[in-house]
Amino acid sequence: MAEKLRVGVIFGGQSGEHEVSLVSAQGIMKAMDKEKYEIIPIGITKEGRWLTSGDPMKLLQYPPAKGAGELGSRSSEQSKGTGTEVLSGAKDQERGLVPANTRTEPSRSRRDLVPGTRETGFPQVDVVFPVLHGPYGEDGTVQGLLELADIPYVGAGVLGSALGMDKIAMKGIFRSYGLPVVEHLELKRKDWELDPEAMMELIEKELGYPCFIKPANLGSSVGISKVHERSELAPALDLAARYDRRMLAERAVNAREIECSVLGNDEPIASVPGEIVPSREFYDYIAKYIDDRSELIIPADLSAELTRRIQELAIAAFLAVDCAGMARVDFLLDRDTGEFYIGELNTIPGFTPISMYPKLWEASGIPYSELIGRLIELALERHADNSRSETSYSPEQSE
Ligand SMILES: Nc1ncnc2c1ncn2[C@@H]1O[C@H](COP(=O)(O)OP(=O)(O)O)[C@@H](O)[C@H]1O
Ligand SMILES: [Mg+2]
Repeated sequence: MAEKLRVGVIFGGQSGEHEVSLVSAQGIMKAMDKEKYEIIPIGITKEGRWLTSGDPMKLLQYPPAKGAGELGSRSSEQSKGTGTEVLSGAKDQERGLVPANTRTEPSRSRRDLVPGTRETGFPQVDVVFPVLHGPYGEDGTVQGLLELADIPYVGAGVLGSALGMDKIAMKGIFRSYGLPVVEHLELKRKDWELDPEAMMELIEKELGYPCFIKPANLGSSVGISKVHERSELAPALDLAARYDRRMLAERAVNAREIECSVLGNDEPIASVPGEIVPSREFYDYIAKYIDDRSELIIPADLSAELTRRIQELAIAAFLAVDCAGMARVDFLLDRDTGEFYIGELNTIPGFTPISMYPKLWEASGIPYSELIGRLIELALERHADNSRSETSYSPEQSE
C-alpha cells in the first residue's frame, strides 16, 4: 500500500480565537481519512510554544470549559512543559525560534521546519493544515514560516492570509477591484489617544449612528461593538483599541447576513450561499459560540439571480486577495435597499462539523471528509506550482 501522507495539523495559537481553533482542529482530525493520512497533531500554546509530542490537544485542555480562557487573554500557566516544545514565539520570555534540540544532519526526503537539519523536534510532514484562527496563524505569520521551510500547506499564502486578516487592507483591495464594501473610516489608536473628540466628531460627521467599531485585525467579533449613540462611542473605541493599533468604523447596515464558501486555487468554485440569523442584535461572540441560538439557513432563501450574484462576488473576492485553497466570504444584504456588500473574507473559517464553511459544501455535494482531502490536494498543487518559479536570476542568461 502506498505510504500515507503525513499531515501536520496545527491548532491553538496565540490569538483570542485559540479555543475556537481547538474545536475546528478536533473536527478536522476526526474526519480525516486515516487510510490515506497520518495525522501529526501540533499544538501552539497561548504563549507561542509548539507542542509536537504526547497529546498536544489534551495538553491544550480540550474541551475548553465554557467561558474559559477569557477571550484575548494570554494566560501564562497553560500547558507548559509536558510535550516536546519546539519553537518559542515572541510572546514568551525566550524570544526567537528556538528548536528544542538542533543537531545538524542532512535533510531526508520529508520536509523539516528548519531546512537542512533534522532532529529539530519538529515532526516530519508532507503537508501542513494550519487550523489557526485570528492573528499569529490566519494572518500570514505561520504561512511565512512554512514557506521558508518549503512545506506545502492548506489555505491562502502569506499575502492572501495577511489581506484576509486585515479588514482595512482587505476593503481597500476589494474597492480597487470594484467590489462593493460598506462605507467606513480607517482609524488609528494613536489618534484616538491624542484627540478623542476629533475622532468622535469625524465618525459622527461621516457615518452617523448606528455604526460599528472594530479592531482591524481580529475575528470572532472580538473587540467589535455596535454603537447607537454618542455615549457608546468612546467605550467602543477604547475596546477596539485594546486589540489593535488600527481600527475601523463602519456604517451599520440593516442586514441579512449571507455567507458563501469558496474552494480551489486559480479556478475556485463557490458553494450554495447560506444565511446566518444571529440570536442577538448582531452576530457577536456570544451569538456565535455561546448561546447556541443563532440559526444557519442552508441554502439561504435567495432568488436564483441573487444566488448567482453572491457566488460571482465570492469568487471575485477570493481572487482579489490572492486567496488559495479555501475561504468563506461573508456578505451583508441591506434589507432596506437590496444592496449587497462584502463584509469580509475568512481564509481559515470555522471548521467544526457544524460550521458554515463545511456545511455549505455538504449542501453543495462535497461531504466534510472529502472536503478535507480536496484541501490537502490543493495545498500540494499550489506548492508544486510555486516551485516552478525560478529563484535565481542572472542577467546574461536571460538575454
Ligand atoms: N457594517 C456592518 N453592518 C451591520 N452589521 C455588521 C457590520 N459590521 C459587522 N457587523 C456585524 O458584526 C459581526 C462581526 O463583524 P465582522 O466584520 O464579520 O468581524 P469578525 O471578523 O469578527 O467576524 C457580523 O457578522 C455582523 O453581525
Ligand atoms: Mg465575521
